[in-house]
Amino acid sequence: MKKIAGAEQNNPLFRQVYEFMLNRMERGEWKTGDKLPSIRLLAEELGVHRLTVFKAYRALTESGKLYVKDKSGYYVAPGSRLDPTVDEGAAVPGYMVRSPMSDIQRMPVTYQFSQALIDPGLLPNLFLSDYVKKVFDLYPKVMGTYSSVEGDEELRVTLSSHFEERYKLQLSARELLITSGAQQAINLIAGIMLGPMDAVLVERPTYSVALDIFRRAGARLVAVDISPQGYDLAAVEELMRKNKPRMFYINPTHHNPTGYTIPAKQRKLLVELAERYRCLLVEDDPFRDMYFLEEPPPPFFAYDTEGWVMYISSFSKYVAPGLRICAVACRYPFMERLIAAKSLADNGTPLLNQKIFLHYYTSPRLQQHLGKLRIALQVHKEIMEEELAATGWEWTTPQGGLNLWVRLPDSIPVAKLLARCLEQSISFVPGELCDPLGEMKSWLRLSYSFASEALLREGMRRLTAIAREIEAGE
Ligand SMILES: Cc1ncc(COP(=O)(O)O)c(C=O)c1O
Repeated sequence: MKKIAGAEQNNPLFRQVYEFMLNRMERGEWKTGDKLPSIRLLAEELGVHRLTVFKAYRALTESGKLYVKDKSGYYVAPGSRLDPTVDEGAAVPGYMVRSPMSDIQRMPVTYQFSQALIDPGLLPNLFLSDYVKKVFDLYPKVMGTYSSVEGDEELRVTLSSHFEERYKLQLSARELLITSGAQQAINLIAGIMLGPMDAVLVERPTYSVALDIFRRAGARLVAVDISPQGYDLAAVEELMRKNKPRMFYINPTHHNPTGYTIPAKQRKLLVELAERYRCLLVEDDPFRDMYFLEEPPPPFFAYDTEGWVMYISSFSKYVAPGLRICAVACRYPFMERLIAAKSLADNGTPLLNQKIFLHYYTSPRLQQHLGKLRIALQVHKEIMEEELAATGWEWTTPQGGLNLWVRLPDSIPVAKLLARCLEQSISFVPGELCDPLGEMKSWLRLSYSFASEALLREGMRRLTAIAREIEAGE
C-alpha cells in the first residue's frame, strides 16, 4: 500500500480515488507537466463527491506527485511515472497491479496451506490418463483444430442437462460458455462489465484474486460483510441504491475463505434485489460438490428469471486443475458479450482438454471419486481442527470446501507469524489479502486440502509452535 498523508487513508473511497489517480500517472496517461482535470470534472467522471477528489489532490500534492500553480490548477510533478523495467532495450509499462496472493502461492514450501487446491494424490489422475488415449481414438484430429469459441457442443449439451438434473438450473447449451478456469471467467466478466471507478459489490472477506482482477479494471470495491447467517440484505439493498453497482461478485457456497454457505431463503431474495437494482450477480461456485454431509441449497442461478445472474462452475478443484475446465452460464445479451471477450482472449479453450474432461465427467467414476473425496476432505479438516483445538483461536467449522478461516489473538501478529512460517517452509494466506478494505489483520486462511494427511499434521504442529513462541516473546 502506498503511503497516504493524514487520516484520510482510512477512508476507502478516498483511497480508491487516490490509487486511481496515482495509477494514471504511473502509467503515463497523465504525464509530467500535464494539467489535471478540475476537481468538479473529475468528481463527475468518477461519480464521487468533490471533497473526496479535493482530498486526493491535496494528498498527492503533499507527497510531491502534483504541484499547484496559482489560479491555474493542479499539474503532474516530475518523477511520478513508474520507472520502466528495461529488458534488452524494451521498456515495460506498469499496467499490472501487484498480486501478493500469487507471490505467496508461488513460494515452494513443504507445508502448503496457502493453496485452495486438493492434494494431487486424491485426484483421478490415472483414470484421466485412460481418457487421453480414448479421446485420440475417438477424435483423431482433435489437435488439428480449434474448439469453437463457446466451447465443445457435446460438452455444453451434457453440462446443461447435468446442471438441470443436479442443481435445478434451467438452461440450454447456448447459454453455456466453456472457459479456461473460473479465473479466466472472472477476468472476462470484469472485462465486459467494469470500467474505471464503476462500483462492484464484493463480499468481505472474499477470494483475493477476484479483488485483484477488479482492481486492475479500475473498479471501486464496495464491501458486503458475510457471516454464518449470510448477508444483511437491508444493508445490501442500501449499497445497491447508493452505489448503483454494475455487479455483485459472490461465492455463496462453502465460501472462500470462510466456508460459510448462504441460506436458501436469502438466495431468492438477493436475486430479486439484483433484478430490482439491475445489478448482475456473479455467482462463483467451485466448491458446491465438496460438502461433507448435506448437499447445499440450489445455486442463485436456479432463482433467476430475468437474466441478472451469471453462474461460474469450475471443475478445477475436484477433477483436475491442470485441465482448466470451467462452465459459465448466463442469458443473452450477456452471453454474446462474453463470447466476444473469450474470442479475443484465446479463441476457445483447448478442445483436447474439453474432450478428456467430457469422457471422465460422463463416466460413473466421477460420482465414485466424489464420494471418496468428500470423506478424505472431511478427515483433512478434522486433522487441522484437532491441531488447532488447544490454541484457543476462533473459527467456524465449515460444512464443506477447502479452508478454515481463523482468528488469532492480538498477541500473535499474523504478519510476524507468516514471516516466521515461511522461514520454516510453511505457507498460509494472511486475512488482509482477502479483505477488500485491506484490514482483517488478525485473520488467516488455512487450506486443509492440499497437504497430505502426514504433512498436514506435522505442518500444523510446527505452525502452532511458532505461534506459541511469538506469544512468549521469543
Ligand atoms: C472462489 C474461487 N474462484 C475461482 C478460483 C479459481 O478457479 P480456477 O482454477 O477454475 O481458475 C478459486 C481458486 O482458488 C476460488 O477459490
